[in-house]
Amino acid sequence: MAQAWTKSDWRNKPRVQMPDYLDSDALGAVEAQLAKYPPLVFAGEARKLKSSLAAVSRGEAFLLQGGDCAESFAEFSADTIRDTFKVMLQMAMVLTYGAKVPVVKVGRMAGQFAKPRSAPTEVKDGVELPSYRGDIINELDFTPEARIPNASKMLQAYTQAAASLNLLRAFSTGGYADVHQVHAWTLGFTEGEKAAKYREMANNISAALDFMKAAGVTQETAHTLQSVDFYVSHEALLLEYEEALCRIDSTSGLPVAGSGHMIWIGDRTRQPDGAHVEFARGVQNPIGLKCGPTTTPEDLKVLMNKLNPENEAGRLTLIARFGAGNVGEHLPRLIKTVKEEGANVVWTCDPMHGNTIKSSTGYKTRPFESVLREVREFFAIHASESTIPGGVHFEMTGKDVTECTGGVRAVTDEDLSDRYHTACDPRLNASQSLELAFLVSEELSSLREARERAAG
Ligand code: PEP
Ligand code: CO
Repeated sequence: MAQAWTKSDWRNKPRVQMPDYLDSDALGAVEAQLAKYPPLVFAGEARKLKSSLAAVSRGEAFLLQGGDCAESFAEFSADTIRDTFKVMLQMAMVLTYGAKVPVVKVGRMAGQFAKPRSAPTEVKDGVELPSYRGDIINELDFTPEARIPNASKMLQAYTQAAASLNLLRAFSTGGYADVHQVHAWTLGFTEGEKAAKYREMANNISAALDFMKAAGVTQETAHTLQSVDFYVSHEALLLEYEEALCRIDSTSGLPVAGSGHMIWIGDRTRQPDGAHVEFARGVQNPIGLKCGPTTTPEDLKVLMNKLNPENEAGRLTLIARFGAGNVGEHLPRLIKTVKEEGANVVWTCDPMHGNTIKSSTGYKTRPFESVLREVREFFAIHASESTIPGGVHFEMTGKDVTECTGGVRAVTDEDLSDRYHTACDPRLNASQSLELAFLVSEELSSLREARERAAG
């Protein structure tokens, strides 16, 4: 049985990666304010996502999670939200085509503001300052004032998250998500010699949609095709914000994180006895847990028992992030632990965080080939273990940025300086994101064919 829990119990546990606010009165005032505001998501939505993730855990759906590494106040605009939303819907369509199962769409959006850092300080030209920790905490400018944690930024983050969700909900149901519009591929990405195979798949998808249109869809199916379920998620790092937005679900009488549908625990904050695990274990939402090269089977076992004591399907998503070339060394022992425990989990692959390198031109980047390679290794290992590769988790944007290298519309080391806009880690641009979706779709389709052959 789960132990008793209150939303402030994390305060008695060791905390890492969280700011020390100097002005505790100001912090208290912000927390009191947020506690009075409406939650950003409704408990019923989190429950619905959980049941969709349960389907993912059984191989009956596929999870696509994606968005910014760090959402920014400066880059906040309707266009940015629309473009990421649109590319995610296009990717989902491509993935559905390969997997022949529904795709559960979860943005790293409307709350992805707080960042764990590998070092507490940053040195530039001999000057050392505290690290940037995301717009909800401090500022990116390299000045001592900008790097002071300021609690009032939580209110701005809440407002931006509320406005983002409002627009996402409008896009999801107001006609924008109509499949017949989404398939108007952006970016001329499928043009050009190298993109011939993508063009073919895109044409097949278009033909299937045209057929449905010509066949005349019923009122009911028309509605299904015009609206989507789109969820939001973020790393639950800043626990003052999370606690202040925690609410009691009036249906079940149980606590829910009101800050987003799904929250996850990062690779640096997953200490089994730490503050972040303590907070996450008590809320009803679907929970993600990053698993990296330092995740031990012993820790994973304790974490699964703490985070999902009832072994509820859809509750826990394990987000594997080992780096290309390292999956074979780490994933099998964690899969073994999951099997031994008989745990219900969703396995998903984050091929971003283990593949960050410094380019020859000095930018933090991720080569497209490494990202793809990690995804393929993840799929191959699940195939040999007869377990289910449930999804992918990308840092991406709908904008035409130059932050990751490679792809058919190749970004080179020299190109990185053109449109390098991320406040934190490098993101796949729209074209690279779609290309990956096509490649993952191929993997899913061969997996499905192999399963069908095996079933006779
Ligand atoms: C992230 O998802 O942005 C992140 C910091 O990941 P991780 O905790 O896996 O390093
Ligand atoms: Co990141």
